[in-house]
Amino acid sequence: MVQPPQYCPTPRELDDLELLVNGALAPTVVFNEPGSPITLHLPDEVAAAAAAAGAVELVDPEGLPLAHVEVPGGTIEPLTHTQYGPFRRHYLTPAQTREQYAGRTFVAVVDALTQPQITALSAAGPVVLLPLVGHGTAALSPVALLRASIAAAARLPQADVVAVPLASHGEADVDHDLGLQVAGNYAGDDPLVGVTDDPSGDYPPEIAEIVAFDRPAPDEQGLVLFFTGLSGSGKSTLARALMDRLLEHGSRTVTSLDGDVVRRNLSAGLTFSKEDRETNIRRIGWVAAEISRHGGVAVCSPIAPFDATRQQVRAMVDEAGGAFFLIHVATPLEECERRDRKGLYAKARRGEIPEFTGISSPYEEPQDADVRVDTTGRTIEDALDDVLVALRDTGYLDLTGDTVVGAPESAR
Ligand code: ADX
Repeated sequence: MVQPPQYCPTPRELDDLELLVNGALAPTVVFNEPGSPITLHLPDEVAAAAAAAGAVELVDPEGLPLAHVEVPGGTIEPLTHTQYGPFRRHYLTPAQTREQYAGRTFVAVVDALTQPQITALSAAGPVVLLPLVGHGTAALSPVALLRASIAAAARLPQADVVAVPLASHGEADVDHDLGLQVAGNYAGDDPLVGVTDDPSGDYPPEIAEIVAFDRPAPDEQGLVLFFTGLSGSGKSTLARALMDRLLEHGSRTVTSLDGDVVRRNLSAGLTFSKEDRETNIRRIGWVAAEISRHGGVAVCSPIAPFDATRQQVRAMVDEAGGAFFLIHVATPLEECERRDRKGLYAKARRGEIPEFTGISSPYEEPQDADVRVDTTGRTIEDALDDVLVALRDTGYLDLTGDTVVGAPESAR
């Protein structure tokens, strides 16, 4: 018998799996029913192996087998329950919820509750808050929405919190209908209500703190400054100058991920084939995204010649809650080749270096750069100024107008 391939689905699909298994999506019980938004997409290679084996084994990000899914058909045989994630004890099945909290009023929650909303709910009698904490649903991260809901429950006379891992499926009306269906399955025959909008209401202090921690102001948000451009365009020099300014400013923690430096450690052994370059950039993106998750600044300066890979990095950073700022160092090839400080262009022209960017391997110019700088005939300070002004205008970081601390008057 052919072994089914293992596959770790997207966060949205993992949430869907959990709801399919715990009965919250009933009457839907399988993936990929015609017309249903509850889909499982397998990459071509996995799909082919799954078709040969008649099944695929879905695993969590750590590789723990979660379910066996028939291919085709989509019928699910659960193997283990999802075990990862904070506040796991709040994840009850709809059946457990209905049994434990019969007679309550159920309240679907998609954002942190304000004081007026909490006051209004305290008249509703015993309630169960159902925060919809699936991937991509709320303005707050799932864990922050859960923390905020638990804090709100503590302010109500009798309230409990059951987490509902319903992810966003990308369209407002689909999400609305699924929300009603899923929350309705948790509520059973008991009343299910929403909360009235309160865009201007204040949060109680402990909830305000949770929200502020989860949605930092732009100048406290993690930040990835990503320089892209040809070899010799001035990326590394500009990136280094920017790093120095950041360090002199002293307000942020900074990590450099320079192309040449990364290739000596994190990406040692990779070649310059398209595939290896993509791997290199994804590694840089992964590390940069983690840095941004912690509120730090990552300054990256690889060539990163492919648009699709740069987009993947942008998405990774976004997912981690960081801001992504793309700088195209647009010094033309002729100038990079004229400089040829490492003598690589000459070698590439002689055919001694295969797949050299700009000569025998493509560079896809970004259409989505936040700023474009050509360093031809300009000083580093001058070119850096363009970057700093554009960066200041985003609200993330203002390094313009800094003077060197302790510098003699003449140097200011
Ligand atoms: S990337 O394409 O994967 O983003 P990366 O920035 O890491 O490239 O590495 C580029 C550096 O490697 C260049 O600055 C240059 O010094 C060196 N290099 C060696 N071979 C090549 C090549 N074939 N193409 C481009 N750069 C190369």
